[in-house]
Amino acid sequence: TEKCLLFGNLYQYQGFWVSSGNYLQKIVTCQNQFEARDSDIFLVTLPKSGTTWLKAMVFALVNRTQYDPKSTQHPLLSNNPHQLVHFLEFPIPRNGVDSSTPRLISTHLPLVSLPESVKKSGCKIVYLCRNPKDNFVSRFHWQNKLRRQEMGGISLEEAFESFCRGVYTYGPFWDHALGYWKQSLETPERVLFFKYDEMKADPGNHLRKLADFIGCPISKEEESFNLVDQILELCSFDHLSNLEVNRTGKLLPGINNSNFFRRGEVGDWKNHLTPEMAQKLDEITKEKLGASGLTF
Ligand code: A3P
Repeated sequence: TEKCLLFGNLYQYQGFWVSSGNYLQKIVTCQNQFEARDSDIFLVTLPKSGTTWLKAMVFALVNRTQYDPKSTQHPLLSNNPHQLVHFLEFPIPRNGVDSSTPRLISTHLPLVSLPESVKKSGCKIVYLCRNPKDNFVSRFHWQNKLRRQEMGGISLEEAFESFCRGVYTYGPFWDHALGYWKQSLETPERVLFFKYDEMKADPGNHLRKLADFIGCPISKEEESFNLVDQILELCSFDHLSNLEVNRTGKLLPGINNSNFFRRGEVGDWKNHLTPEMAQKLDEITKEKLGASGLTF
């Protein structure tokens, strides 16, 4: 057990940190009771890696026949993406829009902690990772926004030390990413490994790869009417963050939908980390990722 700056006590479970006994209990319940289906699509991320964006894109892709991305009735126009694709391990109120087959399910759990039924099933897993410096900065802002309401801010230096030691919910970063990275090399048909940074640089081809991987490739006809651009536009940071639902809505008490949208860019760490901090994080990353082939 370690004291967490944000959530009180953190517990180490299967090599990763989770908050509060109650929450740990929820994870164990999922591990024991969740029944995966071969058709399930899992979206896995560390917090602040682009989960919201990935959820929007996969929801729009999978449901494109039912919901035209240009429709003024599209569920993404009136729901935060987290209301459309639920977390395995957190209760978020359902709101009637159901993407039943295939089921879209998200989680922050590390590979080692996924329910056995997920590991044994033929379900697809999309893992989205983000360079650790931006992931840290995004997490720092998120934590501070939530924490300020409760108990005052937290300094960047304190948060940075915790990040480097891997002591925060779902940390350490490197172990989390490596678990899925290695699995994606072993069973590429089951695990697709994406990086937020690369997705920002070439979103169109990432969307096409995503569609191929989850078994709903973009057809020639869809290409001819620019479906890819339509989905990217629908799910873009500028579009989603300016919707009324995401400016004023609440996901849960104390969590505003707007909290999920800050800058949505690559390299914001340059505005927050000192050169020494950046160097330290780079060195840890190099050492932890070693010769795995995973680089940032
Ligand atoms: P920043 O804090 O760097 O802006 P998560 O969705 O996993 O909570 O991650 C949140 C991060 O993704 C935030 O990063 C947020 O701004 C960014 N984000 C949210 N929606 C996005 C979108 N549609 N496109 C790109 N980035 C997005």
